[in-house]
Amino acid sequence: MNNDIEKILFTESELKSIAESMGRQISADYCGKDLILLCIMKGSLVFTADLMRAITIPITLDFMQTSSYGSSSFSSGSIDIKYNPQEKIKNRHVLIVEDIIDSGNTLSRLKPFLENLGAADVKICALLDKPSRRIAEIKADYIGRRIPDEFVVGYGLDYAEKYRNLPYIGILKREIYQ
Ligand code: IMP
Ligand code: MG
Repeated sequence: MNNDIEKILFTESELKSIAESMGRQISADYCGKDLILLCIMKGSLVFTADLMRAITIPITLDFMQTSSYGSSSFSSGSIDIKYNPQEKIKNRHVLIVEDIIDSGNTLSRLKPFLENLGAADVKICALLDKPSRRIAEIKADYIGRRIPDEFVVGYGLDYAEKYRNLPYIGILKREIYQ
């Protein structure tokens, strides 16, 4: 797998400290509130695992699965919401945990979907943001790092379901997906 990586963007220890500082901020902002962390599978699995352990207030955890990519490297624009959260959303504070915001299509559908279930509020926490690729109007409340328009894998992020288990985040060589 390492041979398919053009360049490492964030090492394992950098990712850990990004999650830690985001966790500190979230703990302060949500102190005294009933917080649900909503992990968007599968890409956010690893980030959520680090983030939740950096949060020092009580939380509940749930997950949803959305998909838009199939096995290509660009968003298809149609979002499939595959799983509805089991934790009751009504009147609670929902924090969506995403691996990366790209076109913004996923979150621009998901946020109103959750708001319509009666959440007290719905906010977005994304490890990575590729603002130059935005199509849909969406802004995250917490962003780990902004990155340029490159296709990245590792730390939960995949290309065609592979590379999720890389401990770092790296730019995938173009020849792999072109
Ligand atoms: P959006 O709906 O276009 O914002 O895409 C969001 C989803 O696309 C993310 O949750 C990722 O699963 C996937 N995605 C976007 N960019 C990348 C990337 O560079 N590497 C891996 N997955 C990506
Ligand atoms: Mg995803």
